[in-house]
Amino acid sequence: FGWIEVIASGAMYAGKTREFIKRIDELKWAKKKILIVKPMLDDRYGESCVMSHNGDNVTAINIKCPLEILELIKRDNYDVVAIDEAQFFDKKIVQVIKDLRDSGFLVLITGLNTTAEGKPFGPMPEILCIADDITILYGVCAACGKPATKTLALFDKDQDIVVGGQGKYEPRCNKHWVHNRL
Ligand code: TMP
Ligand code: MG
Repeated sequence: FGWIEVIASGAMYAGKTREFIKRIDELKWAKKKILIVKPMLDDRYGESCVMSHNGDNVTAINIKCPLEILELIKRDNYDVVAIDEAQFFDKKIVQVIKDLRDSGFLVLITGLNTTAEGKPFGPMPEILCIADDITILYGVCAACGKPATKTLALFDKDQDIVVGGQGKYEPRCNKHWVHNRL
């Protein structure tokens, strides 16, 4: 049996992808074969790249549906499946992750727990429930510098998913988070 490791946060810019890339680097040093995937719809940094806000990046395969992972793992002798931005996937990802664990894979996942409105983000609640290990990261509140566990949308946001980074979203603490925009 394998193991499910989740790196999550309520705030964007908390270093999830940076931590993800660090763990991938360590696993590469340990000679593990790693399949890295991310949702097609996160197109911020081009086709096949997982990029943190500080510019670190690794090569990933863009997929539309979680079930594609089950095909991709047949292509090589992978030890690890790493999934970035899991909040964007539909709930099928949950069963895929369990199946990967039961087949012996280490599954490494990052995701944003909550939307800017504070709602559970996509499959993240279920993913946290099946995790063997959870790392919760904080950001720095853009208004006061205290630990940020929330994200503020700086635009009129009328749906859960709006891909974006600087200029669209800011990390905020509980005091400086305004969540009445939906
Ligand atoms: P990050 O956590 O890796 O910085 O990226 C979070 C992504 O999620 C980013 O593309 C913006 C997007 N997002 C939404 O789609 N809806 C939301 O409510 C929030 C806060 C972020
Ligand atoms: Mg990220």
